[in-house]
Amino acid sequence: MNIRVARVEDLMGMQSTNLQNLPENYVMKFWIYHAMTWPQISFVAEDHMGRIVGYVLAKIEEPNEEGEVAHGHVNSISVLRSYRRLGLAKKLMLLSQEAMVSVYKAKFVSLHVRKSNKAAIALYKDTLGFKIAEIEKKYYGDGEDALSMRLDLPSS
Ligand code: ACO
Repeated sequence: MNIRVARVEDLMGMQSTNLQNLPENYVMKFWIYHAMTWPQISFVAEDHMGRIVGYVLAKIEEPNEEGEVAHGHVNSISVLRSYRRLGLAKKLMLLSQEAMVSVYKAKFVSLHVRKSNKAAIALYKDTLGFKIAEIEKKYYGDGEDALSMRLDLPSS
């Protein structure tokens, strides 16, 4: 298994992995926008044939006049079912977090996750140390609440 930064030619494989794993799907323009705007912080896992089996897609929220500091946001992460519990998601997240700090001096990373998504919540909370910042009621299209989670990042 190889884990490396995502390239434009990976986007179809990333989108396909997303479609197989999650109900939150995005048009290709969205994937391209992320890859072109923040090319260093999204990563893929590929098998020995070069097929994409997992990805993390992330973006940066720039500092603004209201005092918001630069921070990373994980839009989406998923790993194909037969490649789960091998530590791939943990590695993808750690690489993205490191790049958020080294490239963009991000102070923290945020994400949303469905309240019912036990596997992802365990990954974020127990393995990576994220905390629940707030519960966003009816965040998802089907009315499910989201946990808004956040992890402070070390300075570079
Ligand atoms: N049950 C409980 N804990 C779990 C599970 C699970 N099914 N899966 C992972 N974890 C936790 C464990 O603590 C695990 O450590 P351990 O194996 O030493 O016990 C730790 O997370 C790391 O697991 P990884 O092997 O790195 O995780 P994996 O590569 O299997 O991917 C993921 C986890 C991404 C949640 C995967 O199950 C998946 O693709 N699910 C469907 C898509 C999804 O829910 N994505 C997240 C949506 S939220 C968002 O995208 C921001």
